Amino acid sequence: MTNSHEYRPLRIALLGAGSVGSQVARLLIEHKSELAARVGAELELVGIAVRDINSPRNAGVPRELLTLDAESLILGADIVIEVMGGIEPARTYILQALNSGSDVITANKALLATHGTELFDTAEQVGAQLYFEAAVAGAIPIIRPLRESLAGDKVNRIMGIVNGTTNFILDRMDSTGATFEDALAEATELGYAEADPTADIEAYDAAQKAAILASLAFHTEVPLESVYREGITKITAEQMAAAKRDGYVIKLLAICERVAADSAGLEGVSVRVHPALISREHPLGAVRGAFNAVFVEAEAAGSLMFYGAGAGGVQTASAVLGDLVSAAKRHVAGGPGLADSVHANLPVLPIDRVQTRYQITLEVTDQPGILAKIANVFSDHNVSIETVEQSVRVLAGIASKTATLEVGTHAATDASLSAVVKSLAANDAVESITSVIRVEGI
Ligand code: HSE
Repeated sequence: MTNSHEYRPLRIALLGAGSVGSQVARLLIEHKSELAARVGAELELVGIAVRDINSPRNAGVPRELLTLDAESLILGADIVIEVMGGIEPARTYILQALNSGSDVITANKALLATHGTELFDTAEQVGAQLYFEAAVAGAIPIIRPLRESLAGDKVNRIMGIVNGTTNFILDRMDSTGATFEDALAEATELGYAEADPTADIEAYDAAQKAAILASLAFHTEVPLESVYREGITKITAEQMAAAKRDGYVIKLLAICERVAADSAGLEGVSVRVHPALISREHPLGAVRGAFNAVFVEAEAAGSLMFYGAGAGGVQTASAVLGDLVSAAKRHVAGGPGLADSVHANLPVLPIDRVQTRYQITLEVTDQPGILAKIANVFSDHNVSIETVEQSVRVLAGIASKTATLEVGTHAATDASLSAVVKSLAANDAVESITSVIRVEGI
């Protein structure tokens, strides 16, 4: 292999030397000549900006490249890689980099989901590129397929398992019968969950990723505040066992979809993240452990599934380096690059408008006419029942006075379905509602 390249070496600045940054540095150095051959120019790592020079570092990080002076590093770079995370100073650094003409690669989903418009507008104004394959689902190529491969198609729906920590927890609950608390403790012990797991278990992380995916898929700005979000903390071992018995598994799903026009003619898109029952036969039902997967339904392409490691330093570094090669090639060969388009500008509708199905489990008084009373609640809201399963618990050989009903609905709007749950809660035939969960993927 030759190391002689006609183009001058490209100066690469790395912001952050944590689990992803240290792997990016190591791979850049270890694969220097191969990357140079692919790009047609040397990729020279000129510095790594960190907050504390003396923090313990992964062995792959050359200490002589560490600096506290991020701003000078940015000003002297051709391409800036931001893997420090957080909103500030990452936002300011990325804006400085773009404004000085550098292309930027970021893995920062929180920043993109909250300040994406500002960053993309700045990139467009100055003719720079902002790459972010690593921001959603780690190593899995999903941004580029949405931005490029499917750019000529019409994406109708995306269903993703985009958070590995919660998938690990739910998978352990499913496979071992563990409670949420025990499965979370195991995830923490194994390093999947952070000391403060809120962002994962309350689905903030998944909501950020869903907003990014939906913006790309529907060419529409999707503010994070418009993403409906429910975490997994209330999922019980009993719900898991019931799901398994019925041929389902509970997954935290990020669902981005087009919503058909209502009677007033208003159509749009909807983005939501919540736990849901999905058939064990569905491709997403087979996603185990901390893996991620994104299932895309497009008009011409049909169904596509992207699967792999959604987190991890070296896995995420793979996505960063893919972006780096693209950015570097653009430097060498020129070209306009890609601009993200929000031309469709569709309304982002509340979850009320989406069509879904509920499975509702309730304890009811075991008396004549109760089933009819319950059925009326559903029909009052124009919701059709698909399945009803009743079991009467027998205590010490005597049938108890309550029966457990598990009611599965046909598809209806979430507004109607949640109205059913409200009415059931107020109905004197209902002792308690023990589970309400959406059913997806049918
Ligand atoms: N905490 C995330 C997850 C990885 O568990 O998938 C980073 O987005």
